[in-house]
Amino acid sequence: MSLRLAVLGSGSGSNCQSIFNAIDDGRLDAEVVIVLSDHEDAYILERARQRGVRAEVMDCGGYKNKFPLELQAEVAEKLKALNIDMVCLAGFMRLVKEPLLAAFPNRILNIHPALLPAFPGVEAWTQALNAGAKQTGCTVHYVDAGMDSGEIIMQAYVPVKEGDTPETLHARIQVQEHILYPAAILSAVSRL
Ligand code: GAR
Repeated sequence: MSLRLAVLGSGSGSNCQSIFNAIDDGRLDAEVVIVLSDHEDAYILERARQRGVRAEVMDCGGYKNKFPLELQAEVAEKLKALNIDMVCLAGFMRLVKEPLLAAFPNRILNIHPALLPAFPGVEAWTQALNAGAKQTGCTVHYVDAGMDSGEIIMQAYVPVKEGDTPETLHARIQVQEHILYPAAILSAVSRL
């Protein structure tokens, strides 16, 4: 039976698109049932709507970074009611905590634009550049209550090139992200 996915994102949603693409070309036997965002104008919601996927805004009550626990409990209930098998964070910039983690143990994945455990947190590509790293990459990992700290599922390497700017490096990382995420979802499914 095909996997029922929920995707949470805060931005452009190119990783969500890579999941749509993997479904469409048969790499991933799955359906994205719902896309949720903490920003009403996030393009990830538009991508979902264009595909006819349910797209909803989560109201974080004006908090800039916090993902309120009551809201996490509501989201968990909603996703349970939709029989979601796996939750994919795709550029979602708030920390997931117990209410969601407990509802989906080993079933919440995140993609991060660095070779974790190096450079957790925001703008990991800029962190890599500033640190003078010769290579960086991206990681898909299970989500735990920490920041980008859960068990690693898969990684891809990206060289840092002479003259790279934050933008050129992030763009090259994203090319790898879009290949890695669908493959890592498959790998996580095989471990369920
Ligand atoms: C991606 O590069 C993702 O790895 C990163 O945000 C970008 C979202 O792009 N996530 C994080 O930094 C999470 N710590 P997208 O909206 O186009 O998928």
